[in-house]
Amino acid sequence: MIALAQQPAPTGAQLFEPIAGVLQGPRCMNCHTVKAPHQKDVGIPHAQLVVRGADGHGAATLQCAACHQIANSADGKVPGAPNWHLAPLSMKWEGLTQAQICEQIKDPARNGNRRTLHEAIDHMKVDPLVLWAWNPGAGRTTPVISHAEFVRYLEIWAAADGPCPK
Ligand code: HEC
Ligand code: HEC
Repeated sequence: MIALAQQPAPTGAQLFEPIAGVLQGPRCMNCHTVKAPHQKDVGIPHAQLVVRGADGHGAATLQCAACHQIANSADGKVPGAPNWHLAPLSMKWEGLTQAQICEQIKDPARNGNRRTLHEAIDHMKVDPLVLWAWNPGAGRTTPVISHAEFVRYLEIWAAADGPCPK
């Protein structure tokens, strides 16, 4: 067995692996979908026939905000955070490989016009919808690493110029 200190530091595309491990977890993936939000760890389509709608806020007659408030419901069963809605289609991850997700979050044409890697990772440091994943309520599972560790991996990745898997 090689001692920890002697193991080569991860380089290149390996730097995206721990990040992808968070992004591809159910709490994030359930909102980065195509047609409708998903639910549960297996990512089944949202109950009540909820759909994406024109702007990610649902159908005109059944908006996300009808049920999702600015915080989780008292019993935790209905998730909540400010401005709860689906990620735009350009930011969908459903059906994408890790390499495709990596390229997409770096691309200003698809990532909400975030021009630098630092702007792109900033969202993941502070956005309430992202932070919600670590406080999802009702015993839902959380991402595989803590938010602080996630931020550390994001910073290491950005400092290395954001390498993507092939
Ligand atoms: C009629 C009420 C209602 C509407 C409208 C609604 N939701 Fe939900 N949503 C719920 C409830 C209740 C749950 C919890 C289901 C569970 O976990 O068993 C839920 C769960 C979710 C989850 C799963 C969270 C997770 O990872 O487990 C996501 C994502 C979600 N909703 C997104 C949306 C979005 C986006 C919209 C609007 C396009 C929306 N919902 C509209 C009631 C609603
Ligand atoms: C309730 C739905 C919801 C959940 C849950 C959610 N997102 Fe998003 N996500 C969005 C929306 C809406 C946007 C578009 C916001 C914007 O462009 O400012 C977005 C945009 C993004 C972007 C693109 C912006 C950029 O920085 O490149 C990234 C990355 C992202 N989310 C990461 C995550 C991660 C990581 C998680 C889980 C830890 C997560 N999201 C959970 C709705 C969600």
